[in-house]
Amino acid sequence: MKREKNTLFMYSNYFPIFLTGGRGLFGSVFLKKNKKIKKQILAPSSSRLDITKKKEISQYLNKYMPKLIIHAAALVGIADCEKNKLLCKRINIEGTRNICSYAKKNNIRFIYISTDYVFDGKKGNYSENDKPNPKSIYGKSKLSAENIVKSLNDYLIIRTSFFSRKKWKYKEAFVDQYTSRIQIEELISKINKIIFTKFSGLIHIAGKRQSLYNIARKIDKKTKPISLKDHKDLNIPEDISLNINKWNKLLKK
Ligand SMILES: NC(=O)c1ccc[n+]([C@@H]2O[C@H](COP(=O)([O-])OP(=O)(O)OC[C@H]3O[C@@H](n4cnc5c(N)ncnc54)[C@H](OP(=O)(O)O)[C@@H]3O)[C@@H](O)[C@H]2O)c1
Repeated sequence: MKREKNTLFMYSNYFPIFLTGGRGLFGSVFLKKNKKIKKQILAPSSSRLDITKKKEISQYLNKYMPKLIIHAAALVGIADCEKNKLLCKRINIEGTRNICSYAKKNNIRFIYISTDYVFDGKKGNYSENDKPNPKSIYGKSKLSAENIVKSLNDYLIIRTSFFSRKKWKYKEAFVDQYTSRIQIEELISKINKIIFTKFSGLIHIAGKRQSLYNIARKIDKKTKPISLKDHKDLNIPEDISLNINKWNKLLKK
């Protein structure tokens, strides 16, 4: 994979960078891991810049003229999106459309953080060629957003799933849901290898396949096991592990 030389001068082709969701898990670790170029990353909070407000977005971006956009803001989580369907659509679909429309007009490279929840979880080990079939409102909103991003000239859609070693948010975890969540710091290191390249398209970046309970237990020993069978109402897919062969091949180039 041909990467711009690792010097601030070469990276500067991409400055300033506009990052949405900078206060979230992904965004905060992205900023931490990219401390050296932090001053070149614009990362407004949602109260400073609400991505559902199209006019405000273009006013803000016209002022700073970013050369790279990393879009990580979203309403995240299956249960939250089922509960707040309209808000989920507004933030995840309309919000993405608003930023994309600016990127399209100004021909800006666009990185979109997507999810393994675009798959129905019936087979697992999903590659980029597998057909998405989301079951949840969250998964559907992220797939719609992917389709908007695909209308751009220079885009990168990264499908992933991640966790923080510091904290497991819940008291319980599914023993029978399989994912290939990757530790967030490791994900950011990988993403840094591909952002500043000419690579365009869809890529899966993930860790090894394991049950959610397995991951959760390593973070918090008190996590209780639960089963998908007891939470059928949430439409949680069984095995959404991602195949990363394309990523591994790309690294070797
Ligand atoms: N967590 C995962 O395992 C996972 C897996 C796959 C993909 N993803 C994707 O990765 C991205 C980041 O996820 P995360 O876990 O870091 O999320 P998170 O911690 O829940 O953070 C979400 C971020 O979105 C911002 N946001 C929400 N509504 C907004 C609005 N209307 N305008 C502007 N910003 C808004 C929030 O800003 P404020 O804090 O300023 O309010 C927050 O910084 C998301 O796109 C998610 O779909 C996550």
